[in-house]
Amino acid sequence: MNSAPITSIHTQSKIPATLHDNTHTHSDSTNSTGFTLAQCYKMLALAAFLLAFVVVGLGAYTRLVHAGLGCPDWPGCYGHLTWPTSQQEISAAEAKFPETPVELDKTWPEMVHRYFAGTLGLLVLAIVTVSVLNKKSNARSKQPIKLPFLILAIVIVQAAFGMWTVTLKLWPQVVTLHLLGGFTTLALLGLLNIKLNQERLFKHFSNYPASDLPQQPNVKIIKRLSIICLLLVVTQISLGGWTAANYAALPCHDFPTCQGTLWPTMDFKSGFNVTQTIGPNYLGGQLDGPSRTAIHMSHRIGAGLVFLFCIPLIILLYRQPFLKSSAVILLSALTIQIALGISNVVFITPLPVAILHNLFGVILLLSLIFCLSHLLYFKKFNLQSIQSDKNLSPRS
Ligand code: HEM
Repeated sequence: MNSAPITSIHTQSKIPATLHDNTHTHSDSTNSTGFTLAQCYKMLALAAFLLAFVVVGLGAYTRLVHAGLGCPDWPGCYGHLTWPTSQQEISAAEAKFPETPVELDKTWPEMVHRYFAGTLGLLVLAIVTVSVLNKKSNARSKQPIKLPFLILAIVIVQAAFGMWTVTLKLWPQVVTLHLLGGFTTLALLGLLNIKLNQERLFKHFSNYPASDLPQQPNVKIIKRLSIICLLLVVTQISLGGWTAANYAALPCHDFPTCQGTLWPTMDFKSGFNVTQTIGPNYLGGQLDGPSRTAIHMSHRIGAGLVFLFCIPLIILLYRQPFLKSSAVILLSALTIQIALGISNVVFITPLPVAILHNLFGVILLLSLIFCLSHLLYFKKFNLQSIQSDKNLSPRS
């Protein structure tokens, strides 16, 4: 490896002044705990990201133990702040909701999920507040200001979808959108954390000699392929949500075949009829076998496409020294996710496997976002380095 010192664009170990961390600025106000607002912002963003993981996992658990209708009302549970526990409370709850007898093992997962999601909402509200105060105290701060508002808007919409999941009795369209909303929240919180720690990426780039950094055309190809993979993974996650919401794991227990053949009887029209309204509720799924098989097989084909496009991307990433870590993360997430998907089929969705398959779906999405942000920040790094070099060079 050529470790010659970087001269022109990538000045060795020198991050352009414009790219320096603006966490500690003179005008930044410090609160009573000794933390600056910018530091509080970073800590809250990290806490929200970790909590969102827990909320998504709890959501998967609630659905997988069939507790989605554990509480027939919203936001309370049979009119309680938590859930009815004593015999007297249970009798009163059943008198109020005669169609849905209380099942204690289904009330608590639903309410625990709601409370964790509520806490996440409050945390995001705190992030919005701190980001605004931070901007007010330091107008030159480059820390994101619009993104927290977008995340807050999505969390509010998510709360509405949480309510419709219950009131529309697990209508698959709503269940799938609720899952996608959860993944979007987590993905945007991941992006917020990357943005807040961008100086680390710049430091990472500045540690490489110029010969190890790719040329712009290479970056362009990798970026385009990453975007294709990101779109495919989002589609695949939507198909996964549709598979789970319609209980379409059940028609195939063999792999790579399904019902002993590579192309079983399928009804794509009714499997993907998004206007379906089969009642009285959707617990356990209402579609017939060929419709569910069509959904299941589409998710498998989607996985094949994700694999086909991600492998060349991983190879291209691995060839670039500064993107090697992205390649390793993406390869690990993809391999584990496919293995979990196949285990879901062969072992008939065991609870831990199904929850992990949900979480690794989001990890795969995050690894592509991580990779894309490396590429985008690399471009910014390059442009600002050129700018910085121009400013530094003496006028002739
Ligand atoms: C390549 C990447 C893949 C991604 C991103 C992905 C994503 C997802 C997601 C997000 C769900 C919904 C989970 C939930 O609601 O809890 C799901 C469900 C499912 N996936 Fe995948 N999946 C992938 C590959 C596979 C593969 C290769 C198979 C099997 C061959 C598979 C089989 C299933 C099954 C059976 C379900 C339904 C599980 C249930 O009802 O709980 N997946 N997938």
